[in-house]
Amino acid sequence: MRREIHEQPGVMARLCERAGPQLRALGARLRARPPAAVVLAARGSSDNAALYGRYLIETLWGIPTSLAAPSVVTIYEARLRLRGTLVIALSQSGASTDIVEFLAGARARGALTVAITNRARSPLAQAAHETVLLESGPERSVAATKTYTAQLTVLSLLVAQAAGAHGLAARHRDLPGLAERTLACEDRIREVARRCRLLQECLVTSRGYNLATAREAALKLKETCYVAAEPLSSADLLHGPIAIVERGFPVFLIAPPGRAFPHLAKTAARLHRRSAATVVVSSSAALLRGAALPVEVPAVPDEALTPHIYALPLQLLAYHLSRLRGLDPDRPRGLRKITRAL
Ligand code: F6R
Repeated sequence: MRREIHEQPGVMARLCERAGPQLRALGARLRARPPAAVVLAARGSSDNAALYGRYLIETLWGIPTSLAAPSVVTIYEARLRLRGTLVIALSQSGASTDIVEFLAGARARGALTVAITNRARSPLAQAAHETVLLESGPERSVAATKTYTAQLTVLSLLVAQAAGAHGLAARHRDLPGLAERTLACEDRIREVARRCRLLQECLVTSRGYNLATAREAALKLKETCYVAAEPLSSADLLHGPIAIVERGFPVFLIAPPGRAFPHLAKTAARLHRRSAATVVVSSSAALLRGAALPVEVPAVPDEALTPHIYALPLQLLAYHLSRLRGLDPDRPRGLRKITRAL
């Protein structure tokens, strides 16, 4: 897991180079003939990447987007009317059975289908009209890390092209360097993990593009450290569940500068008033000053690319916390590399 975490700057650079031309062509086609709606289908970490994709497509491209509930098709046998819809399935292995079935059914019912996968010869790649490869090399660790940020990168490259957001497309070239600098702070993350080593339960919160990061961090904490980590949008947190936060209750707050920042700063203030034990991940010095455990991240020039960078310290944290607790993050109990939900 640790080796694959550190491969991410190289994967990001390789993706921009190798998948860039394909995504430019696909993006241009989609811009010329935009779909009426987009449906993203995925499970686990891939579904967290899909959530980011939903925010990005709706904010930059203005096309209504939903996350598929595969059981609607695989259990309830619903016959969705998908003509004119773009269906994007994300699966590292390309072998998650119900995601393959959802995509194949969508194709048969008139959708344009795109697979985003790490495996060229997978059932998902065979089933789609077009396949975009994650260029990550084999992912051996059961916990997905490099393929998660690769999925984010494919989505942001594709949506930047489809929406004509040329500035965003160009800023992808900053990603490998930013990822490198973020991963260089591993000593600090190890120290934060040491301070969290008795963690049993926590909340993980963010808003907007980084709600995906909160979900992914919580998933990693559950899978590799067996921490009961509950991800919540900060909007939902303040609405009611903040009631569970008492003195010393651990809350991870993922708060990059950008459009969602004012609400995240307000959330930090509310958590501070309740004397929560906050782990704040941010590049904002003002916000980091108030944290029980600050995790400083380099400034990312575009909020739309912050999830790619903010995932990294949280992956490292899950890895080190797992090791400090005497666990093996590469062999988490109850988790297999391929999800067979059917
Ligand atoms: C999380 C994890 C799993 C997978 C899920 C989907 O670290 O590894 O939750 O993300 O099983 O797998 P793929 O992407 O192969 O469809």
